[in-house]
Amino acid sequence: MTDQQAVLTWRDGGVPVSDRFDDPYFSLQDGLAETRHVFLAGNGLPERFAPGFHIAELGFGTGLNMLTAWAAWERAGQDTPLRFTSFEAFPMAAEDRARALDAFPELEPWVARFWAGWTGARCDLPTLRLEVIHGDARQTLPAWRGAADAWFLDGFSPAKNPELWQPDLMAEVARHTAPGGTAATYTAAGFVRRGLEAAGFTVERHPGYGRKRHMTRAFLS
Ligand SMILES: C[S@@+](CC[C@H](N)C(=O)[O-])C[C@H]1O[C@@H](n2cnc3c(N)ncnc32)[C@H](O)[C@@H]1O
Repeated sequence: MTDQQAVLTWRDGGVPVSDRFDDPYFSLQDGLAETRHVFLAGNGLPERFAPGFHIAELGFGTGLNMLTAWAAWERAGQDTPLRFTSFEAFPMAAEDRARALDAFPELEPWVARFWAGWTGARCDLPTLRLEVIHGDARQTLPAWRGAADAWFLDGFSPAKNPELWQPDLMAEVARHTAPGGTAATYTAAGFVRRGLEAAGFTVERHPGYGRKRHMTRAFLS
């Protein structure tokens, strides 16, 4: 294990909690439903899916968001690769990821194919072109040459992981968003919304998932 590898505690049997950030990787209530509400619907997906569509994410974590998006992509009838780029500083050990994903039997067909193609940083399959860029997103995102149609902003809570929500990084998110692109996040923290606005996004507050009253949707015109 490297210093940078994620160290976890398991809550309620199946929810991984980061020791470093003292925060769960996904909703204790229902991670899959939260991903669909916040990151898919929040970015107007699956309706906006089209060949070549590119999702980018801050915080790959377990891969739950990626797998949920990829399943939605295939269920929408897309048969070309969904492009998915995720930035991750503290990768999970394979056995931890497998345990976390076990909680979502509905995703099992996608989980199995993901493992079959996963190199540790990439997964190239007929309907998925995944790249996980390892390292601190504050360094790796500015150096990235891509542009996403939709962003999943999924750091740990802004109070516990503030470095992943700073205005400078939100400006890099905007700089790496295709024209007409969007971003969504589960948080409605004021400094995150202001950072997105300062970066050029039009920001809206929407009902959040579960116990969270609000979430944020952002549009780049
Ligand atoms: C809430 S979890 C992401 C959950 C994930 N999207 C999923 O589907 O399971 C937040 C993630 O952000 C990562 N992270 C925290 N600080 C980071 C940084 N500075 N750069 C890149 N990733 C970071 C954490 O290691 C963690 O995997």
